Amino acid sequence: MKRIDAIYHVKGEAEYVDDLPLPAEILYAAVFASPVAHGKIISLDIKDALALEGIVTVFTTEDIPESSQWGTIIADCPLLAKDEVQYIGQPIAVVVGHTRAIAQKATKLIRLEVEELPIIVDPRDAFSRGQIIGTPRTFVLGDVDSAWEECDLIVEGNCKIGGQEHLYLETQRSRVIPLEGNNLRIYSATQNPTLTQKTIAQMLGLPCHAVEVDVKRLGGGFGGKEEQATHWAALAALAAWHLRKPVELVLSRSEDLTMTGKRHPYSSDFKIGVTNEGKIIAYEVKHYQNAGAYADLSTAVLERTLFHSTNAYFIPNTRIFGVSCRTNLPPNTAMRGFGGPQAMFVIESAIAKVAETLGIPREEIQQKNLLRPGNRFPYGQEIQTDSLRRTWLEAEQTYNLTAIRDRINHYNASHFETKKGYAVMPICFGISFTATFLNQASALVHVYPDGSVSVTTGGVEMGQGLSTKIAAIAAKAFGIRLQRIKIESTNTTRIANMSASAASVTTDLNGNATIRAIVQILDRLIALAAKELGVKDGENIAIAKEKIVYAGKETDLTWEHLAKAANLARINLSAHAFYATPGLGFDRDREKGHPFAYHVCGTAIVEITLDCLRGTYEIDAVKIVHDLGRSVNELVDRGQVEGGLAQGLGWMTIEDLQFNEKGELKSNNLANYKIPDIYFMPDIIDIKFLENDGNSPAPYGSKAVGEPPFMYGIGVFFAIRQAMKAFKPEMEFAFTSPLTPERVLCELYTDQLKEIA
Ligand code: MTE
Ligand code: HPA
Ligand code: MOS
Repeated sequence: MKRIDAIYHVKGEAEYVDDLPLPAEILYAAVFASPVAHGKIISLDIKDALALEGIVTVFTTEDIPESSQWGTIIADCPLLAKDEVQYIGQPIAVVVGHTRAIAQKATKLIRLEVEELPIIVDPRDAFSRGQIIGTPRTFVLGDVDSAWEECDLIVEGNCKIGGQEHLYLETQRSRVIPLEGNNLRIYSATQNPTLTQKTIAQMLGLPCHAVEVDVKRLGGGFGGKEEQATHWAALAALAAWHLRKPVELVLSRSEDLTMTGKRHPYSSDFKIGVTNEGKIIAYEVKHYQNAGAYADLSTAVLERTLFHSTNAYFIPNTRIFGVSCRTNLPPNTAMRGFGGPQAMFVIESAIAKVAETLGIPREEIQQKNLLRPGNRFPYGQEIQTDSLRRTWLEAEQTYNLTAIRDRINHYNASHFETKKGYAVMPICFGISFTATFLNQASALVHVYPDGSVSVTTGGVEMGQGLSTKIAAIAAKAFGIRLQRIKIESTNTTRIANMSASAASVTTDLNGNATIRAIVQILDRLIALAAKELGVKDGENIAIAKEKIVYAGKETDLTWEHLAKAANLARINLSAHAFYATPGLGFDRDREKGHPFAYHVCGTAIVEITLDCLRGTYEIDAVKIVHDLGRSVNELVDRGQVEGGLAQGLGWMTIEDLQFNEKGELKSNNLANYKIPDIYFMPDIIDIKFLENDGNSPAPYGSKAVGEPPFMYGIGVFFAIRQAMKAFKPEMEFAFTSPLTPERVLCELYTDQLKEIA
């Protein structure tokens, strides 16, 4: 089954915010942002901007009637800067004009006088100066301090991990329509309609019901629109509310790149102790997260870093420390994996260092320490599934790891200028929002008398295929054709109190709510069918392939007939239902609990060829065994595995996010920020799905898929590193990402570079 909206995409009909027909009198907003990373605002002169023909007005923080600060976890972020600025790209004023071009032009005429203040861009600097957000966290299992004595080998090291730009195709945008009274309708490219509703209501002093947020689909979010879409919708709403005119705000690509936060860079220290056989006895890690200037979701991202600090391994003695550090960069935010990837990179680095020291293959240590069902994570939960080991063994066998190893060793022994490398990358990712209360969703289902069906959920389609999966679930639950199902826009008047579409759980939560709504309607329809069939045992009635089935036998009654008859019999053909994941809880005082409904696991093998004279490399193959449970749509899920892998490979290799010492983004366009393209991707991508018992609480035994495959990409770093080691076995290489060709070259020729210098 294809994506249900593929045809609209192909024909260019698919609706995004600024594809909707233009309302009369629409105005365009543009943002004037701080040119310095830290400073006191002395004066702001908007005269010239106001005087420009075609400009309607300029709004500043003075024009915000009620709440001028926002943020889900800590409301510390000003909608428009007031007395100080904290990062380059921080919004200070909103210019409104008759065209987008004129509004953007007018922003260049605003004069800002600032007294520049010293800035911090490095998280460790921030930490040493006490610039932290929230409180530092520590997870403990066993007794690390005394466990070091049992270790035959202890190694230490540190990692510097780069950030990552979301690079959704559709930049941040919103269109706001003022309605009667004080009411507003917001069309926004947001993963989080309820947050947008709440923030705008608070900003304007309105009740939530006055603010309707509608989202048809996003041109990608990747976490970048979980929190940060809100800001732009709020600024457009501020203008529309004052002017009583429709207002649209669209960030250009360069504005989007400079004004929005990204994946968090981390700086981490590790210490790991093992036996001579490679059994990990103790692990200690300290994560310094570069949070940027405001809280955003940083503390939640940090929490997930703590949860995933031991990745797919059981380590009996661990101490995991993490702290969010405030710097003068755009506030960093959710991005695919949500702090998990950074954590996994560090433990994989620690294992690499042990393997290099012991002179044994990395995968020997990895395999020896893989989690087994019943093992406890440092946060107290036990892992239930055995799919981790199953994916490992299956990857090892199906892709013949021994042959890969032999082939690569043989190649390296007989080649000088080029070397090959491989790495095995197991993943284990916790499924559920780590903030327990967010694990809730609802759905609204209508059946029309012609048998067609309308489904609204609290989930947002962002390209991940949610609509297709919800439609498949609805068709299966009703026992009818998929073509009967329409997935509606996501709208705060139809579904209230949504959680963000995030944490890979959108189908899990909203799909389960959809099934519950459908069960209500089915119960009523089956009672009617029983009456029509003249039988008493309704439990023997089902609907399959649009036919009413009684005691396993198809009857003459059809779905279409039943829908029509129910309407005539005055039976309610609509239902709303709610789902909250059962069994979750986490005690932040003890740092123990059961934060996840389940874990998604898999294993990848990455192979590369390195040109040791040029530093360039090719990714030859990525071979994956992944656990989807019983997929509701394997094609969509395969797309998620491939897409996540691509993004993960890019993060580790060529996506080089560069800020200079002034806090200025240097990689500020697509000529100097490179993402993987079709040529960069490996020629061979083999993906096998684990045959599973489907033991998961997600709809029909499926499993979440959005984020976990991202982390397969981490393998490429260690594959390249292995090739570097094959070329210069005596050298020590850094655990610094991304491992761009430039960095590879500089590391391989450090001595020569020193000589030249
Ligand atoms: N896939 C596409 N095409 N576009 C996206 O924006 N976001 C990713 C992932 N896959 C994203 C995507 C992220 S960060 C998450 S959390 C999940 O999709 C969210 O959707 P889900 O909960 O339905 O998996
Ligand atoms: N993942 C993604 N987004 C979130 C989470 C999470 O665990 N918690 C809060 N927002
Ligand atoms: Mo995804 S980072 O949880 O939007």
